Amino acid sequence: MEKELKSVDYGLEKIFEGAQDFLPLLGTDYVEFYVGNAKQAAHYYKTAFGFQSFAYKGLETGSRDEVSYVVKQDKIKLVLTSPLNSKSPINDHIVKHGDGVKMIALWVEDAKRAFEETTKRGARAYMEPIVEKDEFGEVIRSGIHTYGDTIHLFVERKNYNGIFLPGFVSWESGYNPEPTGLKYIDHMVGNVGWGEMNTWVKWYEDVMGFENFLSFDDKQIHTEYSALMSKVMSNGNGRVKFPINEPAEGKKKSQIEEYLDFYEGPGVQHLALATDDIIETIKQLRSRGVEFLPPPPQSYYDDIPKRLGEHKHLLKEEIKDLQELSIMVDADEEGYLLQIFTKPVEDRPTLFYEIIQRMGARGFGAGNFKALFEAIEREQANRGTL
Ligand code: FE2
Repeated sequence: MEKELKSVDYGLEKIFEGAQDFLPLLGTDYVEFYVGNAKQAAHYYKTAFGFQSFAYKGLETGSRDEVSYVVKQDKIKLVLTSPLNSKSPINDHIVKHGDGVKMIALWVEDAKRAFEETTKRGARAYMEPIVEKDEFGEVIRSGIHTYGDTIHLFVERKNYNGIFLPGFVSWESGYNPEPTGLKYIDHMVGNVGWGEMNTWVKWYEDVMGFENFLSFDDKQIHTEYSALMSKVMSNGNGRVKFPINEPAEGKKKSQIEEYLDFYEGPGVQHLALATDDIIETIKQLRSRGVEFLPPPPQSYYDDIPKRLGEHKHLLKEEIKDLQELSIMVDADEEGYLLQIFTKPVEDRPTLFYEIIQRMGARGFGAGNFKALFEAIEREQANRGTL
């Protein structure tokens, strides 16, 4: 466990002066998925995305009702959990939602205080603070409900030296595919229902002390057929960013509606994973079978110099290399960013991944929204859900 995160790793420190500090967050601790077959899911994240075997709990460690595999790449920790019998409540989550994100665990100094401060401000309690101990010390965790069936856990691990959490052992595997250069979670996006975006924006402001630092309305995010609205929420030090999407009226069904239909409610839409070298990362991911959205049209790449404007001389990458891998580019006042989106990683068209490289830009690729959503619509049409 890395005890110290340097702000330089995130490029941001206390940038949002308006955000409040009753809930200081040190960063994302881990993201836990409830899945039908954790063993196979872990294999997929190792093989396809280059995650490393990290920690495990299951029958061999005395966990009789559920099994969890933890995979890690640089600062990113994913926990893949499956039930071991029909009585586990995890089954209900999987029956309803399919494989998906259950817990977004946030790393805090004081999990008891995090619980008190958020529940006092209206959060619905999920888990009172509990102390878990083993020979390596103690971890305190607490949790609150957010949108849909998704949970925010608060994890306090300052008195713990073990590999992950009490109950877990180190997972040693003979199969260790190389990492692909993924470094940390840049942001995690939630899809909420019709007309619920502002309710959740206010919830993140009031309950978590977050600040809304970017907004996109349906005038900005639309294609000929569909539209959505999005607001980006950030905590005070900018380490935790949660954009929130809601569907908007269009001629046809938007990707957000399709998600809500198949996930059967609000939930996590995508995780954006950051890399320092997107060209190398995407070459690796493609060669390992990760599927990406279809490429933007030729005109998208022809227009890049115009779209980058004054930043075009900063572009270190060759446009032809970006086009070969279907990587998209966008710029804002502070720099540019490179990004690409996978297809959904399970059979329901729900959760997907974004791979992002920030070259100064703090935005979310608004200039790419149209090309991106047109690519998603081509996929939706193939699924018969547009
Ligand atoms: Fe994103």
